[in-house]
Amino acid sequence: MYHFKKPLIGLIISILTYLIIFFESEEEKFLKLPIDIRLRKLNYPIQRHHIITDDNFNITIFRLGKKGSYQFNQGKPVVFVPQFLNCIDSYVLNEEHLSPALVLANYGLDVWLMSTRGGDYSPNNEKGSNFSFHEYGFYDLSKTFEYVYLFNPQNISAIGHSQGGNTILVGLAEKRLKNTHKMIIYGGGIYGKHAQGLFPLLINSPLVEILSYFTDKINIGPSRFLFYLTKHFHYLSRLFFHYVIDTLESDMNISNLYHFAKRSPQPTTIQNILHYKQMFVSGVFKRYDYGPTINLQKYGQLEPPQYNLNQIEESIHLIYGTHDVLARQPDAQKFYQELKKTQAKNVTISEYASMGHISFILDKRASFLKEIISIIEDD
Ligand SMILES: *[C@@H]1O[C@H](CO)[C@@H](O)[C@H](O)[C@H]1NC(C)=O
Ligand SMILES: *[C@@H]1O[C@H](CO)[C@@H](O)[C@H](O)[C@H]1NC(C)=O
Ligand SMILES: *[C@@H]1O[C@H](CO)[C@@H](O)[C@H](O)[C@H]1NC(C)=O
Ligand SMILES: *[C@@H]1O[C@H](CO)[C@@H](O)[C@H](O)[C@H]1NC(C)=O
Ligand SMILES: *[C@@H]1O[C@H](CO)[C@@H](O)[C@H](O)[C@H]1NC(C)=O
Repeated sequence: MYHFKKPLIGLIISILTYLIIFFESEEEKFLKLPIDIRLRKLNYPIQRHHIITDDNFNITIFRLGKKGSYQFNQGKPVVFVPQFLNCIDSYVLNEEHLSPALVLANYGLDVWLMSTRGGDYSPNNEKGSNFSFHEYGFYDLSKTFEYVYLFNPQNISAIGHSQGGNTILVGLAEKRLKNTHKMIIYGGGIYGKHAQGLFPLLINSPLVEILSYFTDKINIGPSRFLFYLTKHFHYLSRLFFHYVIDTLESDMNISNLYHFAKRSPQPTTIQNILHYKQMFVSGVFKRYDYGPTINLQKYGQLEPPQYNLNQIEESIHLIYGTHDVLARQPDAQKFYQELKKTQAKNVTISEYASMGHISFILDKRASFLKEIISIIEDD
């Protein structure tokens, strides 16, 4: 009997190992698919376009139409701008009636999703990693606006969550965006003085500088571990988020968090994190600080120049959640007051008492989308 048991136990262990390490459920395979293939399976028309920026990066953007339709919408064009981890998929991974890009496409707006240099859809690996959200806004977003206008010659709106907001602000302050309509920033802004939780601790530590000795890019990549953890351990994931992004009170639907684990985190550059850090620590929205020698070559001065918010003439609409651990009320209000002093046409701010930071991606009701549609439709 004993002789028989040993191989049996070995066999069971092998099968379990296979299941844990190699087996992929149909759902996992589906969530792993690139955004266009996945959405086509859900019956959305979606096209992949490649554009070449002024500094020669090859950027992928997607055009998304109404579910079940054979053509793209003729409504007002809107560009979704990715956040920190470059994950454009985050705009389509909630339930269909709650995902920002899907809701706007089904409403009839002409939806475009921009990926940025360095992410999985626009790797540009041969070009190195010397870029941050400055280049996303200065080159990638401006070329996207030009390109979208060729297909739909109406003024274009942009929507950016979190760091996506900084990308938009760079484009505006540097006067790079043409044919603009409404600029909508949620869970974003340039101030982080009141941010709480793990992120300020990490960003204020020398961790990124230490990492920069070893690598110029962070590429953790999606993992099975994250997938299982977020799929099966909701309370633990929720508790972790409480200390990083959304307090426990926010209305995010934690049971959908695992949708991301097959697409996120995507790569980002050390320069992007350092640029963020410089802004965060100094409280000044300025260009990347290369150190005095290179600053002098690049900018003709020892200190990096500030972005000139006074250049902004567009309408800017800020939206934030009360339970956001990162983009908090006092910082959002301060930024709002500052924008109101600029030439910006119309600056508004709204607070959602049930929302946090990730809940803009995974909210149970997504009522802020009604406001976004009315801002874009309002002339
Ligand atoms: C841009 O990249 C895509 C693949 O991602 C490729 O098909 C296309 O030819 C590239 N365009 C140029 C001009 O290199
Ligand atoms: C990136 O920056 C580093 C240091 O500033 C420099 O040595 C390198 O040549 C740059 N690479 C590219 C592709 O510009
Ligand atoms: C686009 O915006 C410009 C500047 O605000 C305005 O003059 C023009 O009429 C707008 N075009 C359309 C089609 O609304
Ligand atoms: C959360 O998402 C799950 C799965 O998509 C759904 O069944 C459930 O109804 C949602 N919960 C709430 C409170 O919306
Ligand atoms: C500013 O935008 C808001 C939201 O779209 C709108 O309700 C309001 O009428 C606008 N105000 C002006 C002065 O255009």
